[in-house]
Amino acid sequence: MNRKFGMLVATAVALGLWACGGQESAQSKAQAETQASAAPKESKSLVVYFSQTGATKKVAGLFQKAKKADVFELTLATPFPSTYDSTIAVVREARETKKWPALVNAKPDLAKYDTVYLGYPIMFGTFAPPIYTFLDSVDLGGKVVVPFCTYGSGGRKASAAELKELEPNANVTLAYGISNKRINAENGVEVATAEIETFFENLQAGKTDEMLMGGFSEQRPLTAEDSAVFMAATKDYAYLGLKPLSVSTQVVAGTNFLFTCEMNAFGGPAVQTNVKIFRPLPGRGEPELIVVEK
Ligand SMILES: Cc1cc2nc3c(=O)[nH]c(=O)nc-3n(C[C@H](O)[C@H](O)[C@H](O)COP(=O)(O)O)c2cc1C
Repeated sequence: MNRKFGMLVATAVALGLWACGGQESAQSKAQAETQASAAPKESKSLVVYFSQTGATKKVAGLFQKAKKADVFELTLATPFPSTYDSTIAVVREARETKKWPALVNAKPDLAKYDTVYLGYPIMFGTFAPPIYTFLDSVDLGGKVVVPFCTYGSGGRKASAAELKELEPNANVTLAYGISNKRINAENGVEVATAEIETFFENLQAGKTDEMLMGGFSEQRPLTAEDSAVFMAATKDYAYLGLKPLSVSTQVVAGTNFLFTCEMNAFGGPAVQTNVKIFRPLPGRGEPELIVVEK
């Protein structure tokens, strides 16, 4: 979990950025209504999402644009607290008691949609609690459900796996995910737009996560160069307590590194995990952490 995120939330609140978010959503609602009246009556797909601090909202906007989908933002009846630590406490309590938070609008009319793009922030390694409320309120049986998420360090695969388990009658597809650091970077929207285009190509081609991992070399011991890449990309993630053990690489336009690591997140028990890092071509930027995943 991302401590830095907590500071960002506090700063955002202090600067009144959340208030701007509210205005923006009222404005975009009005725009959406105007557009909806001009657009063809029926749309076959719907983007449903929850976003606490705006990262997932950005990605939802890109999915909506790419698919000319309708949009439905899930809104909590009682918003999460404004600080990271208090949100952690509220989410922990919800998870322990399985009392999922009330939404003001948990029930979109799904009858006219074949496909639901379902977006969420990762909280405690899986989708945020409002998604459970949504899943309890609707029937996704027979729908194609395309998950997408934002996260501090990871949770894309685990959340999609849980979704599959909870919705056995839906066709839950490959999931898209991006870290909040990358989507909130200056070129984040541009980067995500390109990734989402590739994601849809992969989805169309029926690719699985296993197929997408093809093309990596065998795991091998680390060289000094690998260690330097790892250090550069993980410097903001000290709280994960990552220790790289071996690495494999895949040449793309740049290089993907897949480090097998030991992880002691927040000093917890050691677990084995994979850390994916992308190093752009020379002169095109620094190595960046893409995801931490099992
Ligand atoms: C209560 C809480 C728990 C979180 N847990 C995780 C986690 O387990 N793994 C992770 O990578 N990020 C975690 N995060 C970070 C969020 O997933 C990340 O900041 C996300 O981009 C927020 O999306 P939003 O701006 O749409 O709300 C957590 C954040 C909060 C507030």
